[in-house]
Amino acid sequence: MVRVALALSGVTKAHGEIIVLRGLDIEVLEGELFVLVGPSGCGKTTLLRAVAGLAELDAGRILLRNIDITTVPAEARNIAMVFQDYALYPHMTVRNNLAFGLKRHGVPRREISQRIERVARMLGIETLLERKPHQLSGGQQQRVALGRAIVREPALFLMDEPLSNLDAQIRATTRAELKELQRRLRVTMLYVTHDQVEAMTIADRLAVMKRETRASRASARRLSGARHSFRGAIPLKSASQHT
Ligand SMILES: Nc1ncnc2c1ncn2[C@@H]1O[C@H](COP(=O)(O)OP(=O)(O)OP(=O)(O)O)[C@@H](O)[C@H]1O
Ligand SMILES: [Mg+2]
Repeated sequence: MVRVALALSGVTKAHGEIIVLRGLDIEVLEGELFVLVGPSGCGKTTLLRAVAGLAELDAGRILLRNIDITTVPAEARNIAMVFQDYALYPHMTVRNNLAFGLKRHGVPRREISQRIERVARMLGIETLLERKPHQLSGGQQQRVALGRAIVREPALFLMDEPLSNLDAQIRATTRAELKELQRRLRVTMLYVTHDQVEAMTIADRLAVMKRETRASRASARRLSGARHSFRGAIPLKSASQHT
């Protein structure tokens, strides 16, 4: 049976007085790659940061595997995010970038190094482990950022335009690799991009996000009664293909 991994209901978030997300409802199924596609500034990063627990919602609920995590702190959410600019720790080696989240969660040292070796092999970055981020190409940094998420074995991956800083050729190859990896590992991804071709190529299902057209004055009352700001999920392939 297909299970819901992530359920967002009435998700609403304002930056100052501007409501960026207005009553968003989305369900992401276990093992699928769900894409939200929308123009720059429509609130993609804002949404992922809220799901990751890096920003608080103004209204709405977030359920991960049927557990309400709306107020759970980021480090306890079992969600990994790959940031738009990778956000690697510049002073740490690749190995330490990969290990950092695991150390914080108290994973035994031996297991950390085993997981790092495995993920590094999977992504072809074994020879880069002792380098610092500034000694890597954009494509290599992107792999390390992805590795840092995979190594944590999270319940959910949040991908914030993870390919947007790569040039066209690497981008196409990496996109195919990422899709293959996601399928092979059977992991759940919520992936955002402004690139419609990328969205269509990589998605199991996708939804279109629109930019809020007028500046809205936020008040607690209006936020709780917020309405949808996007068109619903469009199934590209049947979810049953993932079982
Ligand atoms: N911390 C913040 N404070 C105030 N406004 C913000 C903040 N972060 C984002 N915004 C505004 O919220 C809106 C949505 O921003 P967000 O970064 O979520 O868009 P995005 O869809 O990720 O865009 P892009 O495709 O360019 O990455 C924008 O108008 C942005 O200026
Ligand atoms: Mg963004």
